[in-house]
Amino acid sequence: MAKVTIVGAGNVGATAAHIIASKNLADVVMVDVAEGLPQGKALDMMHMRSVEKFTVSVSGSNDYEATAGSDIVVITAGIARKPGMTREDLLGVNAGIMRSVIDQAIKYSPEAVYICVTNPLDVMTYLAYQESGLPAKRLMGMGGVLDSSRLSFAVCEKLGCDPADVRAWAVGAHGEGMVCWPRLTTVAGQSIVDLLSPEEVDEVVARCVKGGAEVVAHLKTGSAYYAPGASIAKMVEAILTDSDEILSVCAHLDGQYGIDDLYMNVPVRLGKGGVEEVVEFELTDEELADLQRSADSVRKGLDALPAKSE
Ligand SMILES: NC(=O)c1ccc[n+]([C@@H]2O[C@H](COP(=O)([O-])OP(=O)(O)OC[C@H]3O[C@@H](n4cnc5c(N)ncnc54)[C@H](O)[C@@H]3O)[C@@H](O)[C@H]2O)c1
Repeated sequence: MAKVTIVGAGNVGATAAHIIASKNLADVVMVDVAEGLPQGKALDMMHMRSVEKFTVSVSGSNDYEATAGSDIVVITAGIARKPGMTREDLLGVNAGIMRSVIDQAIKYSPEAVYICVTNPLDVMTYLAYQESGLPAKRLMGMGGVLDSSRLSFAVCEKLGCDPADVRAWAVGAHGEGMVCWPRLTTVAGQSIVDLLSPEEVDEVVARCVKGGAEVVAHLKTGSAYYAPGASIAKMVEAILTDSDEILSVCAHLDGQYGIDDLYMNVPVRLGKGGVEEVVEFELTDEELADLQRSADSVRKGLDALPAKSE
């Protein structure tokens, strides 16, 4: 049975653990600095095994030894947004957490595929890449699956269509610099630019970009976790089943789309080895310029990254 470690047993991590277990995808180990938290949540999930009829195990620990030999390590450890905060406000605290987590996780699972989730996502994923020395193929971030799913939701709300018919693309920075591709977003094969007025297209794009902030404003004490948890599980499934599915994933760009040495959401073919390929869609000049502007917003975040304290 495959093994998935989730570092950070908070809202996002535990939700992802629940979905991965419910789908019977892998044994799950949750690790957290909070004593008792991963153990308690894991036991609670094991108590629902007979109800949900899964056979994989879920366990919790404060020690990385329990994570040894994982196939996938998901990092959700860190603080989340509160109302009025941007993802970028989390930079300083979460950079320290990301550095310590990746160092410890890699000791026990040097061959795993790593999925970073902690915000600000693109900067944290690049930091993990630098810190770990992992090949870019085996290290990625989750942001685009969630953003694309929010775009899909906004399209469904507007058109009253079946979510199964929607293929939505949100790429670029996982933050204010996010880019939606309406021309490439389709409902049963038809582009939404042919189904909606330009004003309506702007509305669904705005709904997607502001989706995370909308949830934060309702919750007041933290940020979204059901859709993020499901998005993590989707990526875990694609990797474990070697699905070759093309999803919007925060991947290392090495010249693709004219962007070099940066992590950002782009279409990626996911498989057993992790990022099997960054897929280059044919874009209009305007779409390409938007993506490159988004890359600039990620670079600004990287410039603000505090140096490692020795
Ligand atoms: N990429 C995305 O799409 C996306 C979506 C939602 C949330 N997030 C981010 O995910 C992170 C977690 O969000 P959440 O809502 O689960 O927060 P949360 O506060 O519910 O959980 C975070 C957990 O991390 C743990 N933690 C802190 N430092 C740790 C360390 N050094 N080692 C191990 N565990 C540690 C905490 O004890 C806590 O249980 C935040 O940074 C949030 O912004 C990203």
